[in-house]
Amino acid sequence: VNPDFEIKGSGMRMGGGAKPFGVDSARVPQLVKRIIAGGAEWRGFHIFAGSQALDPDALIEAQRATLELAASLSEAAGAAPPMVNLGGGFGIPHFHGEQELDIEAVGRSLSEGLARRAAILQGTEFAIELGRWIVGEAGVYLTRIVDRKESHGKTFLVTDGGMHHQLAASGNFGQIIRRNYPVAIASRFGADATEAVTIVGCLCTPLDRLADDVMTPRAMPGDLVAVFLAGAYGLSASPQAFLGQSAAREMLVGAVD
Ligand SMILES: Cc1ncc(COP(=O)(O)O)c(C=O)c1O
Repeated sequence: VNPDFEIKGSGMRMGGGAKPFGVDSARVPQLVKRIIAGGAEWRGFHIFAGSQALDPDALIEAQRATLELAASLSEAAGAAPPMVNLGGGFGIPHFHGEQELDIEAVGRSLSEGLARRAAILQGTEFAIELGRWIVGEAGVYLTRIVDRKESHGKTFLVTDGGMHHQLAASGNFGQIIRRNYPVAIASRFGADATEAVTIVGCLCTPLDRLADDVMTPRAMPGDLVAVFLAGAYGLSASPQAFLGQSAAREMLVGAVD
């Protein structure tokens, strides 16, 4: 379902108005009736209003509106949905100054909303659909410094990776203003940050930057750069074949108690 609302302040708006996703909500009751009359198994609704929201009030309001929409569509279709997928939108902080989502507040409000749900949704199962909130923080991208150069008073650390492995961290995945993902010199953890550097990839485009003017310990060719939050929209969201550079390796690291 393409709802008539979006999650306010979300990084990506997937619902509200003309959208390539879903069926416009006004057309849904008729469609449900046709599915049922045609003898197919109607499984319910999938309502996705947006992605990357950090404001709990915006998510709470979107979930409230989603429950209400599911109830009114069901009533208009004259059928109770076996399942309602309420969408997701739970964001993770990527940039300086952003706050972690208050998951307790969202959970409390959703429980209350479900307890008060309309009669037609009493037998319905509910799901939420999370992506980056589950896996984003689990990934770290490592790339090696191959050159250190000065240009017009600015220090550049050039790596053997870049935007073909981590498009989102380079700021080219729909961001309007480029901001740095959290980065570190992984081979010098704990050392004092003593200089401002710009960390770039190896592609011949100025779009290929991993960090602009960040403070790091003095790093040299051979050192490793870590880019955090690489577990979602990382390698699989990147133009890996662009400019024919080496592929990144993905490794699963586990811990044993
Ligand atoms: C239908 C649907 N489900 C889930 C997701 C995952 O979103 P996120 O990674 O922000 O949780 C998206 C992302 O756009 C989506 O379109």
